[in-house]
Amino acid sequence: MNIERLRGRAKEHLPGWAQDLARRAIAARRRWLPHARFVFPTAREDSPASPYGFPISSHNPLEELGAKYLPTKRIHNYLPYYWMHFRDIRFEVRHVLEIGVQTDRSIRMWEEFFPNATIYGLDIDPACERLADGRCKIFIGDQSDRAFLNHVVERAGGHFDIIIDDGSHRVEHQLTTFDALFPALSDHGIYVVEDTGGCVGDPGLATVNALKGIVDHVMYWPRGFRPEDWPRLDHFPSGASWVDRNAIGVAFYRWIVFVMRGNNPGDNPHLKPLPGAQPDT
Ligand SMILES: C[S@@+](CC[C@H](N)C(=O)[O-])C[C@H]1O[C@@H](n2cnc3c(N)ncnc32)[C@H](O)[C@@H]1O
Repeated sequence: MNIERLRGRAKEHLPGWAQDLARRAIAARRRWLPHARFVFPTAREDSPASPYGFPISSHNPLEELGAKYLPTKRIHNYLPYYWMHFRDIRFEVRHVLEIGVQTDRSIRMWEEFFPNATIYGLDIDPACERLADGRCKIFIGDQSDRAFLNHVVERAGGHFDIIIDDGSHRVEHQLTTFDALFPALSDHGIYVVEDTGGCVGDPGLATVNALKGIVDHVMYWPRGFRPEDWPRLDHFPSGASWVDRNAIGVAFYRWIVFVMRGNNPGDNPHLKPLPGAQPDT
């Protein structure tokens, strides 16, 4: 008998307390399982060609703007991923922060791509101040200075819809800045960390590994809740941390990571409240 049928039988015949006990026993056993390492024993080198050349089409307006403005993110081939994550919100975005300015290439590209947004650039180099123009504003300071970052958030009106960290590329700066600024995103904001890993002298993937931890929060499940409760779990009971409730996704690509803010689980409109549940205040 396969495990699904066994599970079905258990649900039919065992009382609730016995099902809970069985679930806890299985979960405890799983904790001791070694981490799976995939070896793909049946993989072939001669895979069939797909009808497209790359997972994301390079024929898009952001690639065209990349060719026009030539920001450094173009040569890293980040623009397809930006297109994928930004295309649907392009005209709604109002506040964009890019950490690391250097030239006006990137901020001008974003200014044109997001026609209704103010683009805030942040750089440690005072020479960048002269690049403020049109809808682009510049803050001069150090991205590892939390007091400065708080000041930037305040001056920009309290939140950003998009934050891009293309600054020092130092692991400790990437992590401090993320810790300080992820909560400064608007409700469904997107935080991007460019240049992670070996390409910036972090072959141990310290930033990537730290951001992997966000996945545990995306997948948060309240202790003691049953799998079958999920359609009625429209909010988490107390015990869920801020990040459990506010991180809805992480996307890793080669050298670039996107972390999505949202309402977990409230973004799912199909959920119903648990019987008798009171929203936590
Ligand atoms: C790679 S460049 C930015 C390129 C630009 N975003 C683009 O796409 O064309 C990195 C910038 O980060 C700035 N930077 C370095 N350390 C910094 C720090 N601690 N705080 C803020 N900016 C920093 C540098 O001055 C430099 O201008």
